[in-house]
Amino acid sequence: MKILLTERQIYSRVRELADEIQSSLPRQDVFVVGILTGCLMFLADLVRHLDTPMRIGFVVAQSYHGTATTAGNLEYNVKSLPDVAGKHVLLVDDIFDSGQTLARIADEIAACQPASVRSAVLLEKDVQRATDFFPDLVGFRIPAEFVVGYGLDFDGRYRNLPYIAALDAGDEYSLPTAKGDVTP
Ligand code: IMP
Ligand code: MG
Repeated sequence: MKILLTERQIYSRVRELADEIQSSLPRQDVFVVGILTGCLMFLADLVRHLDTPMRIGFVVAQSYHGTATTAGNLEYNVKSLPDVAGKHVLLVDDIFDSGQTLARIADEIAACQPASVRSAVLLEKDVQRATDFFPDLVGFRIPAEFVVGYGLDFDGRYRNLPYIAALDAGDEYSLPTAKGDVTP
């Protein structure tokens, strides 16, 4: 596995993002909404550096199924969306890849009449995407590789790594190579 971002690099960039968010965050009615499961480390580290009263909630979404390394159908539980009417929402996700997850959840949130919506992702993958939605804050732009660690998984594993690494074929699992191998 090749380490792309070290623990130290992630720590200092998350602090910078928190400073940026802090400077424009209202003093009331802030609702941080994380997209599970990948957001877990990023959200936990980010909110620790935000000095504003807030609520924290989550929505569960999944588009990578099993050992797939390309996105399949996005599934999420609308009922798990917190009630954000009238709130200043900060939407937090681990990685912006095709963009479908964040774009769709942002749409759902917008339909709940929030006071405002901003979005932050730790990683942005360097890929062409169909959506014209783009997150307001991005931690790092990374090459179009499948990455794990710091919340990101492959088949449910590696989330606990304190760094972010690119997964090679041969790293404990054999990765699907052709599109046909990908579980929808
Ligand atoms: P999108 O909907 O294609 O933007 O994908 C976003 C979601 O897919 C993220 O919230 C991640 O959970 C997952 N994902 C995308 N790329 C990777 C990756 O390289 N490693 C692990 N998970 C990923
Ligand atoms: Mg995710």
